[in-house]
Amino acid sequence: MCGIIGYVGQKQVKSILINGLKRLEYRGYDSAGIAVLAQGEICTMKCVGKVAELAAKAQTHFPYASTIGIGHTRWATHGNVSEKNAHPHLSDGNYFAVVHNGIVENYLQIKAFLLEKRYHFYSDTDTEILANLIDYHYRKAMQCSFGEIVRKSLLHVEGTYGLAVLSSIFPDEIIVARKSSPLLIGLGYGENIIASDAAAVARYTQRVVYLNDEEIASIRSDNFLVTTLREGVVDTVCHNLDLEVRDADLAGYPYYMLKEIFEQPSSIENAMRGRFTEDNSSSKFGGLSLAPQELRSVKRLLFCACGTAYYACLAGKYLIEKYARIPVDVEYASEFRYRNAPFQSDTLVFVVSQSGETIDTLAALYEAKRKGYTVMGITNVVGSTIARTTDAGIYQHAGLEMGVASTKAFTSQLTILSMLALLFARQRDMDSFTGQQYACALKSLPAAINEVLQSSKQIRHIAEKYCNQKHFLFLGRQVMYPIALEGALKLKEIAYVHAEAFPTAEMKHGPIALISEQSLCIFVATQRELLEKTVNNIQEVKARGGKVVAIINDKKYIWEELCDEVIRIPEVHGGVNPIVSAIPLQFLAYYIGVTLGCDVDRPRNLAKSVTVE
Ligand code: G6P
Repeated sequence: MCGIIGYVGQKQVKSILINGLKRLEYRGYDSAGIAVLAQGEICTMKCVGKVAELAAKAQTHFPYASTIGIGHTRWATHGNVSEKNAHPHLSDGNYFAVVHNGIVENYLQIKAFLLEKRYHFYSDTDTEILANLIDYHYRKAMQCSFGEIVRKSLLHVEGTYGLAVLSSIFPDEIIVARKSSPLLIGLGYGENIIASDAAAVARYTQRVVYLNDEEIASIRSDNFLVTTLREGVVDTVCHNLDLEVRDADLAGYPYYMLKEIFEQPSSIENAMRGRFTEDNSSSKFGGLSLAPQELRSVKRLLFCACGTAYYACLAGKYLIEKYARIPVDVEYASEFRYRNAPFQSDTLVFVVSQSGETIDTLAALYEAKRKGYTVMGITNVVGSTIARTTDAGIYQHAGLEMGVASTKAFTSQLTILSMLALLFARQRDMDSFTGQQYACALKSLPAAINEVLQSSKQIRHIAEKYCNQKHFLFLGRQVMYPIALEGALKLKEIAYVHAEAFPTAEMKHGPIALISEQSLCIFVATQRELLEKTVNNIQEVKARGGKVVAIINDKKYIWEELCDEVIRIPEVHGGVNPIVSAIPLQFLAYYIGVTLGCDVDRPRNLAKSVTVE
């Protein structure tokens, strides 16, 4: 959350900063701002609202020519959403400007100290103390380099930060530093660009250096130097991004979310590419680095994740337990990190995160490693902190996901988890013929999803008809329960309506009290088993005046007589059924959100990557 961008080079910086902020907007979008150096002075512009508003304002009200500057898009933590709290923040006297992602936990103590030294504060943020702290250290040791001043300042800071500092005293240099919040340096020729994620630098360069925790870097147009906060110079490794710039474009779609829903046949294909054994009876993952004996000796799996990734893990639990017969625990990463859970030594831990930067998931990873577990990662963002910190891992290869509400990353996580179920199952009791059927079903997924995508218009009509219902209840059994949970989360996130999910049969133990003409129940009824029971539950809802939408693949019942609306999807193998069943729920949330006039790509209060606790 919060996007950071900075540039030093030969080009005009204003448009580079604003274009970068547009790419980073999914990290936060309550306000935005830029600071550049022009004629020896720091000039800033800030704006409450989206980056588009900043861009419009900058066009007419920001005439400064400059080739060095920093920018920020905010997700408020300390201080309300207002222009005075938007970044960049300036030091008293305007010599230093800071953009920051993270939380300065001891900011009140530092502020008290700086107030005593007669510094003034104009915002309610924790970030502003950083600007003044840097100014204080500059005045204390004027002979020091810019990097040294920032380093000395940061030694007093507790909390988390990804930050960039611009100064009129050091006009050729930007200082960046990182502790828990991501930052990378994009290396160009005669120019360098820093950002909190790769999406913002990909159009300028594919060569990047990732900063690690407690590293600080001095960035000039023709060189950069990374040191640690305490020990000295760091040997950096340059990575190749391999990121398609066009991934960040809308390609004619009104929203990224819709574009990404339609990308799922190919994102799922990419998740599977090259990952089946030659005899097509199992899957394989180059990154997993476990010998067959090691795979076999795993007695238990533990998955940690947040949000949508957590629901993917929950679905994975049903698949792995059913097909591979390995017990699986799924934990909210935010809970696991503080829980002293008694796990056994033959447990293999997986952390799952689209962004690879979620702070709670990262903390769970550190906790599991501290306890001596081998920790694997499933992440989408190549080079992300989680990808670099786990012992080994699997990339999702879903491509850049720009929509704040995850869609294609969710189904690619499900695909990988289903492939893991197959892999573990084949290491145990699944015979090769059954394995081939499973693999074949996985390979047919893109075609099945293409079929489901055809129902978008029908689902749009359903969304338009029922968008004003008061309660939305999502119901599913077994592996469809996590899919129902994800459907409800999606709807809450982007349409701001009351939505909950329950295992279908649990409805009569409480939630049935919510049923009235104002409620819409969405049944994910795509499993052959327990279908009769689901039909009973549908009738219980109908008897109480509730409206019913059923997602089904069965041809036995006359569903149209039972339900108000029926969405038919293809019947597929149980190992991939949750993936196919998830797509109609994505459409439903999207079209309800759009019909209610919501900005589905920038849902209020949310950020795609949550890098603060
Ligand atoms: C945030 C986002 C969710 C996302 C969750 C986990 O809460 O708003 O959409 O599912 O973080 O993100 P991750 O990148 O770790 O999968």
